[in-house]
Amino acid sequence: MNFTGSKTEQNLIKSYLGELTGELLYEIFAEQAQKESYFDIANSFKQLAIEERNHSDLFKRFLKQDIEFKQTKDELQLLCKDTLSNLKFSSIGEYKAYEEIYPNYSKIAEEEGFYEISKTYLALKNIELRHSQLLEKLILSIENKI
Ligand SMILES: [Fe+2]
Ligand SMILES: [Fe+2]
Repeated sequence: MNFTGSKTEQNLIKSYLGELTGELLYEIFAEQAQKESYFDIANSFKQLAIEERNHSDLFKRFLKQDIEFKQTKDELQLLCKDTLSNLKFSSIGEYKAYEEIYPNYSKIAEEEGFYEISKTYLALKNIELRHSQLLEKLILSIENKI
């Protein structure tokens, strides 16, 4: 199948932009955690931001055109609440990528004959699961004050 105009091309664009949004959002959440003196959590968010940037690079490799990223930090700032809420929001997003979105995109890529892209989605979904698990641990650390 032709890559241009395929569902996989559209999914890759969404994934690429989603990962860049994730990077920005985690930077904002890191700043918020810092303000609340959750320094370990701030570091975790910073690390997650780097990993989401790496994921966006992986997706970018498959795209044959430059895609403009228009989201700004100011717009995303509206999603920032207190750190516990930010952790919960993030964990849900990561779990959804693991459980639903990336497996679905993987399946579509396989059906369209883009096997390397399909495998990349499978590899990334497992990383997103680990992100979700890390965030869950951080949620518990606040709730149990440990
Ligand atoms: Fe990611
Ligand atoms: Fe993630």
